[in-house]
Amino acid sequence: MNTILPYDSAVGHVTGEAVYIDDILVNEQLLVGRVVYSLHAHAKIKSFDLSEARKVAGVHAVLSYKDIPGHNQMGPVVKDEMCLAENEVTFVGQAMFLIAAETLEQGLEAEKLIKIEYEPLEPILDIETAMLKGSLMGPPRKIECGNVNATLKTAPHVIQGELRTGAQEHWYLETQACLCILGEGKEINVFSSTQHPSETQALVAEVLGIRRNEVIVEVKRIGGGFGGKETQANHVACWSALLCNATKSPVKIHLFRDDDMIMTGKRHRFLTKYEVGFDDDGVLHAVKFELNSDGGAATDLSFAILERAMLHTDNAYYVPNFSVEGRVWKTNLPSNTAMRGFGGPQGMAAIETIIDRIARFLKKDAIEIRFKNFYGSKDRNVTHYGQTVENNRLHVIFDQIMKSAEYEKRRKEIADFNTQNEFFKKGLALTPVKFGISFTTTFLNQAGVLVNVYTDGTVLVNHGGTEMGQGLNTKIQQIAAAEFGVSPDRVKVNATNTSKVPNTSATAASSGSDMNGMAVKNAIETIKERISKELAQLWNEKDVHHPSILSSIIFKDNFIFDSDHPERKISFTDAMVQMNLCQVSLSSTGFYKTPGIGWDKIKGHGKPFYYYSFGMAVSEVIIDILTGQHTLLRTDILQDVGKSINEGIDIGQVEGAFIQGLGWCTTEEIKWDSKGNLMTHSPDTYKIPTVQDIPKDFRVKLLEDNPNPVGTIRRSKAIGEPPFMLALSVWLAIKDGISAVGNHEVEPEFSLPATNEVILLSIEKLKMKVRGAI
Ligand code: MTE
Ligand code: HPA
Ligand code: MOS
Repeated sequence: MNTILPYDSAVGHVTGEAVYIDDILVNEQLLVGRVVYSLHAHAKIKSFDLSEARKVAGVHAVLSYKDIPGHNQMGPVVKDEMCLAENEVTFVGQAMFLIAAETLEQGLEAEKLIKIEYEPLEPILDIETAMLKGSLMGPPRKIECGNVNATLKTAPHVIQGELRTGAQEHWYLETQACLCILGEGKEINVFSSTQHPSETQALVAEVLGIRRNEVIVEVKRIGGGFGGKETQANHVACWSALLCNATKSPVKIHLFRDDDMIMTGKRHRFLTKYEVGFDDDGVLHAVKFELNSDGGAATDLSFAILERAMLHTDNAYYVPNFSVEGRVWKTNLPSNTAMRGFGGPQGMAAIETIIDRIARFLKKDAIEIRFKNFYGSKDRNVTHYGQTVENNRLHVIFDQIMKSAEYEKRRKEIADFNTQNEFFKKGLALTPVKFGISFTTTFLNQAGVLVNVYTDGTVLVNHGGTEMGQGLNTKIQQIAAAEFGVSPDRVKVNATNTSKVPNTSATAASSGSDMNGMAVKNAIETIKERISKELAQLWNEKDVHHPSILSSIIFKDNFIFDSDHPERKISFTDAMVQMNLCQVSLSSTGFYKTPGIGWDKIKGHGKPFYYYSFGMAVSEVIIDILTGQHTLLRTDILQDVGKSINEGIDIGQVEGAFIQGLGWCTTEEIKWDSKGNLMTHSPDTYKIPTVQDIPKDFRVKLLEDNPNPVGTIRRSKAIGEPPFMLALSVWLAIKDGISAVGNHEVEPEFSLPATNEVILLSIEKLKMKVRGAI
C-alpha cells in the first residue's frame, strides 16, 4: 500500500477548488439566515415583538419558537436543549429568533427592530458557584478499585491538591454552516458541516415534524470539526431547515466567527481535587480524585466526556487503589461539548500533576517516578475500571525516546544552563499517553458503507464517516484500492450522504478509519466473493463453491488471476464488463461493529476500549524570567499508530494534535465577564498557536515495526486524538523551568493553561519564597 498517498483534496485546498458549504452554487432565490441570540446569561423573556422586523423589505421570515412545526428540541442525548428559547434564556448566545432575508444587511436591519423585554435573573458562571448552589447536571459518577481510604491512611507520604484546567475553543477554520434546499413535497436536502450526519438528519426531522426518510443530509467535507461539530452542527442545521421550510427558499446560515465563538460550547473546564499516597520510591499506593466539570447550560455530551475523563485519570500508570468521582455542574454558559481528547486531556493532566509533584517532593527526576509507575506487561496491568492493558507499548517507546531525545544528556546541560543564567531558565519534561480507542457508549461502535463498482473498472465508496481534514477519505481510498488490488486513482470516495448509508455514528472518538475502513473491507469481500465465483465458473473450475477456489483467485495490480493457473488472468476492467454481462451485482453494503468490548457504566467495570494507543513526548522550553515569556525549543514525539496506513497523514495528525494541545496548555484562555459575556470572542483576544509557536526543533516519529495485534484494518491504530495530550509535556517543561528559579518547587496549584501571566506570577511567588518573604 502507498503509505504516502497525498491527502485527497490537498490541491483543492490550495487552489480553492475544494467545495465547502459556502462554495455550493445555489440559484438567486438563496436567502441569508441570521440567528438572533440572547444577550443575557440568565433571564425571563417577558415579551417580544417581531412585527417591525417582519416589515423590512427583503425579509422573508422572522421566526420564534411559536413557528416551529415539530418539536422545539435539539438535545442530542438528554432533551434539555431548545431549538429557540421560549420563556427563559440560560446563556449569552442562546438562539431566540431566526431571520431569513435576501441580503445580510436586510437581516441585520430586521434584527435591530426586534423588541425583547427581559427580566434578568442571577446567573451561575463558574464551577465554584454551581457547587455552592448545588446546581448539578445529573447524578455523580464513580469508579473505584481496591481500598483507597485505608491505603491513604497508611501510605508513607500523602499529597493533596487542586488542579484547574481551562476551556478551549475549537477554532475550526470553517465556522458552523448549513445550506438547506427543499425538494418535492416535504423533502429537504441539508448540506451541513456536521460530524454526525445521521443525528443532524434526525433532529431536522424532529423540528420540522417530518420523517427521517424525507431528510437527506450530505457532507462533502468539513473545514475542521475537532468535536465542535459532533452535536453542535445540529443547531445551525435545524435553524436553516426551519427558515427554509418557512420561506420555501434555499437558506444558508454561516456563522460569523465572533457569533460562533459566543454561541457554541467549548472544551469543559475542570476543577479536580486529588489526594495521593506513595512511598519513598515514588510508587503510587492510592489515588483519589474528584472531578468537577463545567457542563454549561445543557447536558449535550457532558456525561460521556466526564466518563472518558474518569477513564483516563490513570493515564499510563498502575494504581492498585483508585477512586474517581465525577460531577457535571450546570452553569449559565453555552453548553460545553466534545473536543479532541473528549475529557482525556482533563483526566490525564490531573495524574501528570500528581507525578510531577511527587518528583518534586522526593527531589527526583519525574521520569523516574513515571517509569516506576508505568503499567506492566505481565502484572500491574489492570486499570481501575478492570480492563487489562494488553500489548503495552510504554516501555519500548520510553526506551527509544529516552535515547533519541538524548534525555539524560540534555537534563545535565539544562541544569548547567540554569546555574549559569539568572534571567533565562530552561525546563524539560517527558510525558506519556495511553488513550483508549472506542466510543465508551458501546453501541456507537458501528459503521456502514455502500461500495459500487462500475463497468469501466472504477470504484465509488460511500461511507458513513465525515472528512474533516483528518484524512479519512484518503485512508478509505487506499483501503478500497488495496482490497480490490487496483490503483488508488480508480477509487473515489463520495460525499457522505444519509440516503446512501443510514443510522451512522458520529465521526469521533478517533475511530473513523478503524470502523469505516473495516466496513469497506467487509463490503469489498462480499463483491469479490461474487466475482471470484463467477470467474471460477467461466474458467471452468471444477468445484466453484470450494473455499480454496476463492482463495486462489487474486486481485492485484489492476488484474484478477488464478494463482494456481497463471494463464487464467483478466484485467479488472474487463472482468467488470464480463460480470455485468453475467448479471453479477457489483454493489454491496458493508458493516462493522467493534468486537469484544462492553462495560457496566453503573459499576464502572469492564472493557470499554478495543485497544490503547500509546505515545510519548519530550519537550524543552526556555523561559524569560523577567517577562514570563516562553519559547518551545524542541519537542521529540514517538507515537504508536500500529502499522500506518498513510504515514504522511498520520504525522500530520500527530503534529496538528500536538500543536492544538499546546494551545490548550499555554496560550488559549477563555474569559467571561461578570455577566456571562464572552470576552475572548475573536483571534485578537483568543490566542491559538501560530507558526511562531511550533517547536523550533520538532521531531515526530511513528513507532516502527509495530502492527496492531488486535484485528484492526491493516493492523493500523487510531491517531486523531491521542497525540493531543502529548502537549502536557510542554506544560510540565514550563513548570520545570519555573522551578529552576527556586528549589525545584513550584506552587502546587500550577494551573493550565500556563499563560504568560500564570508563568510570571509563579516566578514572582517563587522569588519571594526564595527571599523568605512568604
Ligand atoms: N484533524 C483535522 N484536520 N480536523 C479535525 O477536525 N478532528 C479530530 C481528529 N483530527 C480533526 C482532526 C477529532 S476530535 C477526531 S475525534 C478525529 O480527528 C476524527 O476523525 P477520525 O476518527 O477519522 O480520526
Ligand atoms: N468519544 C467521542 N464522542 C463520543 C464518545 C466518545 O467516547 N462517546 C459518545 N460520543
Ligand atoms: Mo472528536 S472530540 O471525538 O470529535
